[in-house]
Amino acid sequence: MLLKGKHIVLGVTGSIAAYKIASLASMLVKKQADVTVIMTPNATNFINPITFESLTGNKCLVDTFDRNFQFQVEHVALAKLADVFLVAPASANVIAKAAHGIADDMLTTTLLACQCPKIFAPAMNTRMYENPIVQDNIEKLKGYGMEMITPSNGYLACGDTGAGKMPEPETLFEAIVKALAPKDLAGKKVLVVDADPQASLSISLGHHQPDTLPVTLSDMMGKVLTDQPIAPGEGILHHPEGVDLMPANIELSGMEVSLVNAMSRETILRQYLDTVRRQYTHILIDCQPSLGMLTINALAAANRIIIPVLAEYLPAKGLEQLLQTVGRVRRQINPKLQIDGILLAMVDNRTNFAKEIGALLRETYGSAIKVFATEIPHSVRAKEASAVGKSIYAHDPTGKVAAAYENLTKEVLRIERQRDKRRAEIGR
Ligand SMILES: Cc1cc2nc3c(=O)[nH]c(=O)nc-3n(C[C@H](O)[C@H](O)[C@H](O)COP(=O)(O)O)c2cc1C
Repeated sequence: MLLKGKHIVLGVTGSIAAYKIASLASMLVKKQADVTVIMTPNATNFINPITFESLTGNKCLVDTFDRNFQFQVEHVALAKLADVFLVAPASANVIAKAAHGIADDMLTTTLLACQCPKIFAPAMNTRMYENPIVQDNIEKLKGYGMEMITPSNGYLACGDTGAGKMPEPETLFEAIVKALAPKDLAGKKVLVVDADPQASLSISLGHHQPDTLPVTLSDMMGKVLTDQPIAPGEGILHHPEGVDLMPANIELSGMEVSLVNAMSRETILRQYLDTVRRQYTHILIDCQPSLGMLTINALAAANRIIIPVLAEYLPAKGLEQLLQTVGRVRRQINPKLQIDGILLAMVDNRTNFAKEIGALLRETYGSAIKVFATEIPHSVRAKEASAVGKSIYAHDPTGKVAAAYENLTKEVLRIERQRDKRRAEIGR
């Protein structure tokens, strides 16, 4: 699980919303996170530190000069340990202090010493929140790379209605998970290419009517076929979660037909990707579940393949044909092509049948091709994620499918590192 063993620091300040952090601490502890709460002295007027100590099992820190502690210099030790620091509720006062590097209590001192992701959930009266001084301080913190959770609108404890209400613990929880989410992809720039006319990838990333998209992969491949120039980034869409998408729609099946009589028909996709390759660290091509000319194009363009197989009898049988095609493409068009592994997907481990298929695949192919240790479990939450156009990390961040994909990412990146190392050794 993403949160298991992670050190989460919650900074609680003098706001009426402080009581909500008890539920948040409890949610995090249930997910096996190691939670430490730091309170400003003013916050102790709103909720007793004992509440947090009971919920987290850790000492709640208030006083920087408290001599009854377990670390050497506690604020520094804790700062080194923290994976995420969330200040919630964040008072106008603490926001101002943090924006100016003031460290005059345990919370602000630890905050300044922390290098992990820092998140603020401002909570205050609307007039305070809208005050340009507060807004300037918020912008300043954003400029230093800190994340702000926008307060919601609503009825405030002071009787006013407007912006300034701290979001519910579930939203804060999601922000923490997001900050922890796939660290392995940090710094990577990823393009996903939908090479399937059914457009499942495009739909899953929120383009529910792909046929209305003005530019898709079919247009880009058409330009390559007719020797037309492609503008930088043409047709590439940006997903809010940080990946780029070259979408597809049904026009791509027309392209499949056009390719049949084209010159260099197997390398049209590769020629398109050559125009964007330099902007990305990783390009993922989602293929259709058949071995037509589009799939051959994908195999000709790729360096590595992951073969997802449903844990059912017929898809497992179809694998044989795919492996033959991969062999042929490697010999005739793309000698660099490597199989990273076979990935068992939508595994329902409650059934013996799914386990048998997994065992059969490992027995049949395991000696020649890696079968990933990670299996993607069957889950309704994963299907929902596609329907809402979010990744599984955003839709169900603590669920079993997100955890499985995180493990898979680690396995894939490990293979990449090993291969790079081997290549470097050969080059020496
Ligand atoms: C009942 C009550 C509720 C308060 N709620 C908030 C609040 O939501 N946000 C805020 O910025 N200040 C609030 N304040 C004012 C802060 O507690 C005050 O500015 C304090 O100095 C903040 O200290 P701290 O930032 O060190 O915790 C409230 C004060 C009282 C008495």
